[in-house]
Amino acid sequence: MTSSYQSFTRVEPSSPSNPGFVAPSSIQNVLNDPVAQTSHSAAETMAFSPPTHGRARSVSIPGAQAPRLLQPFDREEINILLLENVSKGAVNMLREQGYQVDFQTGSWSEDELIEKIGDYHAIGIRSKTRLTKRVFAAAKKLLVVGCFCIGTNQVDLEAAGERGIAVFNSPFANSRSVAELVIGELVCLSRQLTDRSQEMRQGTWNKVSKNCFELRGKLLGIVGYGHIGSQLSVLAESMGMRVIYYDVLPLMPLGSARQADSLEELLNQSDFVSLHVPELPETRGMIGVKELSQMKKGSYLINNSRGSVVDLAALADALESKHVAGCAVDVYPREPAKNGEKSFTDELNPWASRLQRQANVILTPHIGGSTEEAQSMIGIEVGNAICRYLNFGSSIGAVNFPEVSLRPITESEVRVIRICYVHHNQPGAVLAVNEIIGSHNVDKQTTDSLKEIAYLLADISGVSENDIRDIYSRLSKTQSCILTRLLS
Ligand SMILES: NC(=O)c1ccc[n+]([C@@H]2O[C@H](COP(=O)([O-])OP(=O)(O)OC[C@H]3O[C@@H](n4cnc5c(N)ncnc54)[C@H](O)[C@@H]3O)[C@@H](O)[C@H]2O)c1
Repeated sequence: MTSSYQSFTRVEPSSPSNPGFVAPSSIQNVLNDPVAQTSHSAAETMAFSPPTHGRARSVSIPGAQAPRLLQPFDREEINILLLENVSKGAVNMLREQGYQVDFQTGSWSEDELIEKIGDYHAIGIRSKTRLTKRVFAAAKKLLVVGCFCIGTNQVDLEAAGERGIAVFNSPFANSRSVAELVIGELVCLSRQLTDRSQEMRQGTWNKVSKNCFELRGKLLGIVGYGHIGSQLSVLAESMGMRVIYYDVLPLMPLGSARQADSLEELLNQSDFVSLHVPELPETRGMIGVKELSQMKKGSYLINNSRGSVVDLAALADALESKHVAGCAVDVYPREPAKNGEKSFTDELNPWASRLQRQANVILTPHIGGSTEEAQSMIGIEVGNAICRYLNFGSSIGAVNFPEVSLRPITESEVRVIRICYVHHNQPGAVLAVNEIIGSHNVDKQTTDSLKEIAYLLADISGVSENDIRDIYSRLSKTQSCILTRLLS
């Protein structure tokens, strides 16, 4: 039997000097209502049950003894808004936690969000919903944002951070989908498959073998040996290809792959070059006129990474001169905002029609990671991140927030509370916390900072209800406080 104390309070960023104690009504109820402070029955103490399918990350820490699910709020009162038809796996996972989940298939406008977001403790979105500064200003109860997608451009990360709201995404759940697409493109390019198919659709029979090749024995050059590049390496070797890779980091090769000393060495030797680097100042225009000329004559280029990595006008030149025998491109410097005819034109990207005219060119609309499996993996990963943050205070994987975690409080530990304290990263902040909790038995404590925001987790044992009340009240009034939550 464990006592449950659940609360949080946030200090508005506009008045950092005036902490303005703002406890939501649910917290006040817990503070005032002795019934809310009584022990939970065993049936009420829900064991976290991550889905058994897919590669769900366990919420518990391996090797720990029976971790206790901590309760940030009364379970009935945790409201989660899921917009844009996020995966059903995530919806089910969050409902299984006992949260109230409001599931919507569409996105909401800024005005609609401002009107309604005040009711929710967590929100899940994909790429269409914009979470702006104004939306965050209205999100009085919001603790966490889950972006059920790769990017987080649609979220004002700074505004979220200023209010102590953690933002999670899923940057790597679609790695396999991209790697598999590249394998398909390797076959299509080496067999001129899309051109033959296009001819047949127009009634033309053109049975040729000239300049059509097997992949077996060919050298694949992978630029960027991260999540996608390394998966591709394994798949390509299973097709009988040889693999060389170039990366700024010295990375352990998988299988029989070998790391090239330079990009030039890779370009000089490879029959196929596939790009898998992130968008960084150093990777912008990484493959331009010079690098294309360093590629073997008759080789192929594949770009499923970012549109800015390749100078596509230079690539059109290299295709027209037949120096490059074909290419597959999935990402572009400028991409249409929505699906529709006549949206990928020279007005958008001035070289578009030049690429469209060339033989053996595969152009796809940024679908590298777009599979049902990737969506489902994203749902599980982001759903788990939301649960871990709400239930345990763990911010591992957050994009706008210091990444902090503590080993779990186990079932056998009673009268233990976890403090989740988001604060301004300023001198004296941790000292002020330690002055409040230092006289108690602090079992474990950790803190980290990211730019202006710092996050402290601490577990304190042997505390009475009065102690908890006192700690909560004093922490919430510290000068650096952005948000204080207590879990038990
Ligand atoms: N087409 C799509 O739909 C799609 C889907 C997912 C990811 N992506 C993109 O694919 C790219 C790779 O994704 P990932 O998940 O494998 O990333 P990752 O971070 O796991 O790996 C990137 C690798 O590139 C290396 N790298 C960084 N700068 C480099 C440089 N200048 N030269 C050589 N290597 C460098 C890094 O060290 C790292 O090993 C990203 O740009 C991502 O946005 C596209």
